Amino acid sequence: MLKLRYLSHSAVILDDGTNQVIIDPFITGNPTCPIKWQDVEANYIILTHAHGDHFGDTMQIAQKNDALVIAVNELANYVARNGAKAHNMHIGGSFNFPFGKVKFTVAHHGSSNNENEYMGEPAGVIVTIGGKKVYHAGDTGLFMDMKLIGETDEIDVFLAPIGDNFTMGIDDAIKAAEFVKPKLVIPIHYNTFPVINANPHEFAQKATARGFNAKVLEYGETIEIE
Ligand code: NI
Ligand code: MN
Repeated sequence: MLKLRYLSHSAVILDDGTNQVIIDPFITGNPTCPIKWQDVEANYIILTHAHGDHFGDTMQIAQKNDALVIAVNELANYVARNGAKAHNMHIGGSFNFPFGKVKFTVAHHGSSNNENEYMGEPAGVIVTIGGKKVYHAGDTGLFMDMKLIGETDEIDVFLAPIGDNFTMGIDDAIKAAEFVKPKLVIPIHYNTFPVINANPHEFAQKATARGFNAKVLEYGETIEIE
């Protein structure tokens, strides 16, 4: 059983009934997020990269919930230096946590903190939880190795950025879905700020026309992954 809650932007909560895993918890300062960081109950936090619209409220949520932060080495060290528990990983590596497996993938992007300090490479992440595989692409441009992900892993849910400017836009995200071949594709990273305005329904229509099962989630909506 897997419940997926979309908070807006790139923030999602994966819940298998026992563990709550939040990815990229950008809540404070996120004009589209319907909850406060204090509302989050999570025992794991996964970060794709250090940009403020992904790192977000990580430190507060980690400290309040005694949550373990899972990130690439440089970013995990930064989290640990600032007083939260961290598990260091890196791209291409996977590790089995009590809720399931986490594997970091390539992402073509940057990763620096608010002081513009280098925080290691940005990543995407494949999370196996509740019997399902979720690929959260992080912030990235389209890249050919997504095809390898589609061949290596049977992805149930693909969380694909569509907002353009910093990441893939709608048409590149459609191409990404063709590479990843997910059972369900959900658009993320759009409409939070004017510069990433994109119509998620246009994405869903185009994806559906190409034979994909696509779903636009409301901000805060929870769905159960069949
Ligand atoms: Ni970013
Ligand atoms: Mn971003």
